Amino acid sequence: MNPLEVIGRKRDGHEHPPEEIEFLLSGYVRGEIADYQMAAWLMAVCIRGMTAAETLALTQTMVASGEVLDLSAIPGIKVDKHSTGGVGDKVTLIAAPLAAACGVKVPKLSGRALAHTGGTLDKLESVPGLTVDLDPDRFIKQVREIGIAVASQSPRMVPADKLLYALRDVTATVPSIPLIASSVMSKKIAAGADAIVLDVKFGRGAFMPDVASAEQLAREMVELGEGAGRRTVALVTAMDNPLGRSVGNALEVQEALDALAGVGDDELLEVCLRVTREMCQVAGVSADPEKVLRSGAGRQTFERMLAAQGGHLERGLPVAPVQVEVKAESEGHVEGIDALEVGLAAIELGAGRMRKEDKVDPAAGFVIAAHVGDRVAAGDPLVTVHARSQNLVDRVSARLRGAWKLSDSLVRRPPHVLARVDKDGVTKGD
Ligand code: URA
Repeated sequence: MNPLEVIGRKRDGHEHPPEEIEFLLSGYVRGEIADYQMAAWLMAVCIRGMTAAETLALTQTMVASGEVLDLSAIPGIKVDKHSTGGVGDKVTLIAAPLAAACGVKVPKLSGRALAHTGGTLDKLESVPGLTVDLDPDRFIKQVREIGIAVASQSPRMVPADKLLYALRDVTATVPSIPLIASSVMSKKIAAGADAIVLDVKFGRGAFMPDVASAEQLAREMVELGEGAGRRTVALVTAMDNPLGRSVGNALEVQEALDALAGVGDDELLEVCLRVTREMCQVAGVSADPEKVLRSGAGRQTFERMLAAQGGHLERGLPVAPVQVEVKAESEGHVEGIDALEVGLAAIELGAGRMRKEDKVDPAAGFVIAAHVGDRVAAGDPLVTVHARSQNLVDRVSARLRGAWKLSDSLVRRPPHVLARVDKDGVTKGD
């Protein structure tokens, strides 16, 4: 086989047999196929797309490129949860411990911030002392004892995705449905859980621009999961506005702690309960997440998890030295808050990374005072900026103010969950 022929076949819109995908990807991992050849093929995939059979072959080759976690020492049905990424998306921090408190076993491998979207590992690491580097024995022991562990993926798992993702990041080849589906699902399959609940986001703050493409991505991921013998369910959710009231690592951990005490943004609580219900359902657990939330057991489980991973909540979460309100210049009803702009402003503050090697500022971020549907008068606070310095506040204030779109007429919050996808198809609505 010859790489030029294989790349040319995708360029011309033909379907690869599985052997060609295996040849290209395995050759790339071994260093026999050059970056520029792989990049040309990725761009051809972005333009031409892939069939279900091709996406399956790509996913299987990615899984086979590294180790697969064996979770058989954990009794019961193990459920993983994954979001395709958003701004203010702390659903994992709330829904996963709540599901564990309901009796679901949740072995969860998470990622770091990607582009303007936040990362669960960065959020957790804002708790003093906490580690996300758990070796497999410790990870499994913690899930057996507490019901949940959230850790980083070993570099030996799915190395093909690591290489491919880095290349996609710098060749404008990230937003492709088959490439995203195979990237996410290869990691989920290698992580070893029996069932997977996906939160597939669309809108300004997500990688998918609209509900139709998010639904298509959800369908492909469900098909890949089910094809690998994992019960897979996806919710298609809106990410035009930041989720909940806070954006930033420690601020989101605090919001999660509050939500687990039953206090917080209604929409956030609703979506977390919905995700938890799906996790319980795929695990065959009959507990009522709302009751468990009210009992405080979800918060207790979260605190036990943080402590088991070395976290010391009693030392307090990091607090930014400068906290400044950005105020509305006119009156109106908040019609929308541009999640992409807020995410980019968060990076500028240091809550995310400009470059791979950057350290995140755990205390930096925003607390939203006026959310979608709220009415503000001129001079009312829109958002409080938490930053290391006044200089940083000044850098993001105008951008933030511009992210708030005000309207003269009354605004209602749009629905958050737009569809549910499982092996039987798509169900529209909440
Ligand atoms: N998250 C991933 O893990 N991979 C993608 O391609 C996009 C989002």
